[in-house]
Amino acid sequence: MKKQHIQIGDEGFIFKGFANDIAETLVDTIKELTAMSPLRQMTTKRGYQVKAEMTSCGHYGWVSDKQGYRYEVLDPLSQQPWPDLPEIFQSIAASAAGQAGFDHFKPDACLINHYQPGVGMGLHQDKDELDLSHPIVSISLGVPAIFIFGGMHRNSEHNFYLLEHGDVAVWGGKDRLRYHGIKPLKLSHHPLTKQSRYNLTLRKTGYIS
Ligand code: SIN
Ligand code: FE2
Repeated sequence: MKKQHIQIGDEGFIFKGFANDIAETLVDTIKELTAMSPLRQMTTKRGYQVKAEMTSCGHYGWVSDKQGYRYEVLDPLSQQPWPDLPEIFQSIAASAAGQAGFDHFKPDACLINHYQPGVGMGLHQDKDELDLSHPIVSISLGVPAIFIFGGMHRNSEHNFYLLEHGDVAVWGGKDRLRYHGIKPLKLSHHPLTKQSRYNLTLRKTGYIS
């Protein structure tokens, strides 16, 4: 049966409950990954603290500090390579990307964000990947959040969508560089994540691996 989807752009979709069947395994896997490369708060170039806690897995991890943001092969905290991208992350991402019309998506990086009540993420573009022909695949776990999906400019008109546990959003092609963000999380509870929300964003950086 085809799962319900919401079209958020010409090449952007939210597949409701797409990861429901494996959501518990995804949360358990996140816990294993964060035991190796812990969640941490990063700083921006200007010295501000990023409110959501972050870590990565895959060949490249996303890092931000006073030098700016970039992909790195070593976790600066552990000085070790980031944990491998779990097979289950790759397969759910490839299958959601396929549903959105992007075949053969093979991510090489996954950013793991962790939000507590009151924490959101400001509008930004995901533009640090070299090959923008691949989509972004974003998996939501835990308490719900409001996704802000804008246009090609920071001040373009934007829409709001509910992202719930198990939802998978995919945006690529014409929509790949659209500004997006997350509204500060409302106080809520989920049996697997307590008051918090995890988000996995899977990317193909296009760097040589
Ligand atoms: C992001 O844009 O990196 C995160 C989006 C989300 O948390 O849903
Ligand atoms: Fe993003």
